[in-house]
Amino acid sequence: MSSMKDAGLDPKNVSLLWASSDRVTEIAALHAKLFNPSWDRKSIDELIEHPAAAALVAQMREPKAMAGFIIGQLAADEAEILSIGVAPEWQRRGLARTMIEGLARAATRAEAKRIYLEVAEDNAAAIALYENLGFAEVGRRKDYYHMPGVQPVDAVLLALQL
Ligand SMILES: CC(C)(COP(=O)(O)OP(=O)(O)OC[C@H]1O[C@@H](n2cnc3c(N)ncnc32)[C@H](O)[C@@H]1OP(=O)(O)O)[C@@H](O)C(=O)NCCC(=O)NCCS
Repeated sequence: MSSMKDAGLDPKNVSLLWASSDRVTEIAALHAKLFNPSWDRKSIDELIEHPAAAALVAQMREPKAMAGFIIGQLAADEAEILSIGVAPEWQRRGLARTMIEGLARAATRAEAKRIYLEVAEDNAAAIALYENLGFAEVGRRKDYYHMPGVQPVDAVLLALQL
């Protein structure tokens, strides 16, 4: 039996596109599926339209669908990943890796020296993804993420040298 991971990613089937406001509805819908609490449309629109924004979507050709997004910001010699998500049916095919590499290329061209991000310490999938790409822990914010009814979770601050 073949797993989703075995299906791999056909590079001809995916385009990495700069996202602008016209993708906000799709990004907000996917964000709401993946995150709790999720960000509303207006906040996502403001982030994407910010002059320092660097946001990409992974657009599949067949079936035609937006499979993932990454929202980053470039400022001086630092870049930050504010959010990244891949639709469950497209996970484990290398899309998140592809989007981070795309953002890293843009950051390098903008002369950024490193990329930062924050991740909940219990998000094992995301931490595995970032560590595989060479991100390393540079700090922690104790009890940063609060969810009703559960113990607060630390935010781990990770950085990748470009
Ligand atoms: C985290 C997330 C973005 C990963 O997206 P993805 O496209 O499935 O990731 P990739 O296929 O590019 O994975 C690359 C590597 O990361 C690691 N990884 C990704 N998902 C993993 C998982 N569920 N468990 C363990 N390792 C995982 C693996 O090392 C993987 O390489 P491999 O498949 O060759 O083993 C996706 O699971 C997601 O959208 N999660 C919900 C939102 C979220 O948590 N975002 C991050 C917030 S900081």
